[in-house]
Amino acid sequence: MADACGVDFGTSNSTVGWSRPGQPALLMLEDEKLTLPSVVFFNAEDETVNFGRAALASYLAGHEGRLMRSLKSLLGSSLIDGQTEVLGRALSYRSLLSQFIAALKHRAERSAGREFSHAVLGRPVFFVDGDADADHLAEQTLADIARDVGFREVAFQYEPIAAAFDYESQIDREELVLVADIGGGTSDFSLVRLSPAHAKKIDRRGDVLATAGVHIGGTDFDKYLSLSSVMPLLGLGSRLKNNSEMPSSFYFNLATWHTINLAYTRHAESQLKDIYRDAIDRDKLDRLRDLILQRAGHWLALKVEQGKIELSNADSTELVLERLMPQETVTLDRDRFDGAISPLVSAIESTVLGLLSNAGIGKEQVSTIFFTGGSSAVPALRKKIAMAVPDARQVEGDLFGSIGAGLALDAARRFG
Ligand SMILES: Nc1ncnc2c1ncn2[C@@H]1O[C@H](COP(=O)(O)OP(=O)(O)OP(=O)(O)O)[C@@H](O)[C@H]1O
Ligand SMILES: [Mg+2]
Repeated sequence: MADACGVDFGTSNSTVGWSRPGQPALLMLEDEKLTLPSVVFFNAEDETVNFGRAALASYLAGHEGRLMRSLKSLLGSSLIDGQTEVLGRALSYRSLLSQFIAALKHRAERSAGREFSHAVLGRPVFFVDGDADADHLAEQTLADIARDVGFREVAFQYEPIAAAFDYESQIDREELVLVADIGGGTSDFSLVRLSPAHAKKIDRRGDVLATAGVHIGGTDFDKYLSLSSVMPLLGLGSRLKNNSEMPSSFYFNLATWHTINLAYTRHAESQLKDIYRDAIDRDKLDRLRDLILQRAGHWLALKVEQGKIELSNADSTELVLERLMPQETVTLDRDRFDGAISPLVSAIESTVLGLLSNAGIGKEQVSTIFFTGGSSAVPALRKKIAMAVPDARQVEGDLFGSIGAGLALDAARRFG
């Protein structure tokens, strides 16, 4: 049997799949769980590193240290060569990323009871929109890291093609399928001809009619929700004594998962001190100061994300922000959220329509639309995407597991 696995390193969650006849593909990565949240916590008190749910728990318990989430967003950004500082010690982002991928490999191997020397890594259609060189560099960086942590051979597969392979393992006739994988960082699509007979072929290039993607995902929804409904409570949009507007950089850093730690730099701290003197709305700035002093940026982002997830099943929800406003709650409502993310939803819709037109495929020709990725649960977005192919049958995959399962099939096919 092959010593090859499929690795879905996601912006929010990661999985590892290993294909064996008659067995589920996904391996347990944290206790009995099949996903490992893509989170690293460097605990500065005892200099240990935690991953996944344990990392979130250590951070939320208040240990001194650095939390990194949305690590994949660093690939293809200039921050990849940067570092964060904790207790006077510099930690490079690249090394945190390597440690996470190493943990994925190690946990998968422990769970499978064997070593994996070969891997098919999933990748978004674009790590970076509209910049082929930066996109190539992002893939190269991930390949280098995978080799550094011990994979001897590494291949890449588009995430929405991997999802198609997972769906293909469940069908009994030929279908033309639009795959929509809406994750934490990117929205990726493929238009693929699938059937049990095609599934046996090694080279599937002829069955892939088109792929498309855009760098928009659930972390952007978190950001827009935070900027529209929460950051104003911390002073975004308020005025200073000289009537200029409060600088927005604090709020953008705090609302963007992979830049939260930038709000804690010494430079940011002294800038905030200066601004505080000129502020009119001191109550709001007190909240901002408290948040930064408590290093609670990720705590707040997690609250906002949780609120967003609740809005998928409710018209409104109450955020309890006990560390900042113990006496009050903040109401989030679905209509306001839909309004805040509507430019993002439109950009995703354009990506789907462009894919169909590039492939020269009429919407009536698509038999099935296959949804995967956690953010495909956002009702307004799902509706918009489904409208692009109104007659297609809608199928929901395992929102967090389809890519890893499809990569496992691909790994078995390629590496035997
Ligand atoms: N019920 C829900 N409603 C809305 N969003 C959700 C829901 N459940 C999860 N999400 C969001 O889905 C995202 C995570 O999805 P997923 O695990 O598929 O992403 P990923 O694979 O890590 O990211 P990517 O593939 O873009 O790198 C997060 O932004 C999360 O907040
Ligand atoms: Mg994904």
